[in-house]
Amino acid sequence: KRVAILISGGGSNMVALVNSMTGDHPGRPVLVASNDPAAGGLAKAAAAGIATAAVDHRTFGKDRAAFEGALLHHIEAANPDVLCLAGFMRVLTPAFVARFEGRMLNIHPSLLPKYPGLHTHQRALDAGDAEAGCTVHEVTAVLDDGPILGQARVPVLPGDTADSLAARVLVQEHRLYPAALRNYLSGNRTPIALP
Ligand code: GRF
Repeated sequence: KRVAILISGGGSNMVALVNSMTGDHPGRPVLVASNDPAAGGLAKAAAAGIATAAVDHRTFGKDRAAFEGALLHHIEAANPDVLCLAGFMRVLTPAFVARFEGRMLNIHPSLLPKYPGLHTHQRALDAGDAEAGCTVHEVTAVLDDGPILGQARVPVLPGDTADSLAARVLVQEHRLYPAALRNYLSGNRTPIALP
């Protein structure tokens, strides 16, 4: 299966996914695209020999549809079967989601349905949660809300800050996303839970 990955920044989740797509893995990376031409992940993808594209969303002002049209041009040229959002920080319109519904995944740094949206780690700390984690889910028109494909849990430790918790969760993101994608591409829809 042809997998395209959308990023906005350093792309550590993209790197984890690409590194997992070897041997008998059912997916292979055909494109890494970003809404930010300066995204550090673009250089990492290019160094790995993967086609890259960047569409600066800021040049489209408030015209989200125009930005997505430009992004879609690059995505369709790569003709992916599956789209993986990995640290992609733009909200996609229902029209865009509809084109990929049922074949678009995202990783979110909380144990959904808790804490959709931003600042997930601070919100978990403020709530006094004993544990936190990350979720891979299918993308639907409702933000951070689609069918859950996998979750990984971490303990919240005394003295944790949003940064220390984020770092602990990120390690699990890099384990969960490759496992959840492999499971998904194999046709399995039973959510996976990483200890
Ligand atoms: C991280 O905070 C991660 O939790 C979330 O997106 C951010 C950047 O990820 N998924 P990446 O390093 O660009 O993959």
